[in-house]
Amino acid sequence: MSLTGRSFFRIGDFSDEELGSLFQRACQFKETYLKGHQINHLFAQPISKPTIVGMVFLEPSTRTRLSFETAVKRMGLQTLFLGDVASSSLSKGESLVDTIETVAAMLPDCLVVRSGGTSDVQSCLEELPLPIVNAGSGEDGHPTQALLDLMTIMERKENWREQRVLFVGDVLYSRVANSNLELLKRYGVSVGVCSPEELLPKSADWQGVELFTDLQQAMSWSTACMVLRVQKERHGDLKMDMDEYVAKYRVDGERMAWLSDESLLLNPGPFVDGVELTNDVLKDPRCCIRDQVTNGMFIRASLISHICGIQVKGESHG
Ligand code: CP
Repeated sequence: MSLTGRSFFRIGDFSDEELGSLFQRACQFKETYLKGHQINHLFAQPISKPTIVGMVFLEPSTRTRLSFETAVKRMGLQTLFLGDVASSSLSKGESLVDTIETVAAMLPDCLVVRSGGTSDVQSCLEELPLPIVNAGSGEDGHPTQALLDLMTIMERKENWREQRVLFVGDVLYSRVANSNLELLKRYGVSVGVCSPEELLPKSADWQGVELFTDLQQAMSWSTACMVLRVQKERHGDLKMDMDEYVAKYRVDGERMAWLSDESLLLNPGPFVDGVELTNDVLKDPRCCIRDQVTNGMFIRASLISHICGIQVKGESHG
């Protein structure tokens, strides 16, 4: 088993054992860092050649982009970054595919890509002769987000496989929910959805999950409640009544009473204060939103180090 040189487009690309080693290394990195040590002190050998991680972000991002960048820098690797569409040759009419192939032609050691997930871009990425990491592809998937979400649940819940994870809101357009579902199903974790009818997921993958229309009932059922952003930018002709949405589905300080004392509140970010959530929930001890961001850095450091063939002291190497 080795993740060296492998791409990570979706959760299904890695075996249970490989996912386990990603989580294990991410936890080791976090523990080491929180003890005041640099994570590259765990590397079995010093990095012997410049290792460059290409980053192409064709959609807006704060958490994913900066956590990959921080992870890479904390490990002493380097980034090659294309994120500002306006200052790249995309603004002169170069296609997305040409742009991606151009960055790949500079031979980074791997390429992290956020894109709209169109079929031309996806085909191009799958044919490139270097490892690709999916940093969010359209409505399809966001597998590193799912890993960091589960790492956050694992940290707080020893019996994490027995949790009931609820997705609230715009599940239909959520790549985060899709990747989370794929990951949670792998481990047999119970999943529920609470959404307005027009935002319920339609794909067969979601068949068999618990469906709720009433938020109080749903939150009372859940032990980990993941609130999703309403992704208006993907809605096309769909016109949501946002006052009704807020009245029925917003999670705020008062509604946190519907979660048990032991339950968790998660949100992949971003959220709009007053729409999906209100800022006061951030102070609730059950709220894991900032932990998710921190864990994102360690999960991505684990993934990139594995893909770049970096070995860590004490790990067995198959
Ligand atoms: N969760 C997430 O993907 O956030 P960003 O869009 O800020 O990267």
